[in-house]
Amino acid sequence: MNAGTLPPLVTSITNMDDYDVILLGYPTWWATLPPPVITFLTQYDFRGKEVYSFSSHGGTIFGESVSDLQKRLPGVYVGLLAEYYYSGGGDLGNMLRQWLTAAGLDSLILN
Ligand SMILES: Cc1cc2nc3c(=O)[nH]c(=O)nc-3n(C[C@H](O)[C@H](O)[C@H](O)COP(=O)(O)O)c2cc1C
Repeated sequence: MNAGTLPPLVTSITNMDDYDVILLGYPTWWATLPPPVITFLTQYDFRGKEVYSFSSHGGTIFGESVSDLQKRLPGVYVGLLAEYYYSGGGDLGNMLRQWLTAAGLDSLILN
């Protein structure tokens, strides 16, 4: 992170144009976005989309990640979705499933 290295991603999204709303989840790292998420942001055109941030963290909550996200996506609507205090283990998937179900977005749950 100090060197600004952006690691390549092993997967890609071929139909990004089909999506108007992006739910962007990441662990807060050093109070900001992890480098692989920055790689993701550089690989697609987010203009005209809405991006909603949710993060897991060990106490910093979003830190500066949302304002850093907005700086990386000028002109794109960036919103807050949810934050999860979570330091590893297997509960995060269930927390997200519960949130999506409560928000009426259970159709987004893949597994
Ligand atoms: C390199 C690194 C930096 C981190 N920096 C922060 C931080 O600044 N604030 C915070 O609350 N948690 C921080 N954490 C804790 C992560 O947010 C936490 O481990 C993560 O949400 C758990 O998800 P995971 O199991 O996918 O890593 C950091 C973790 C790592 C590995």
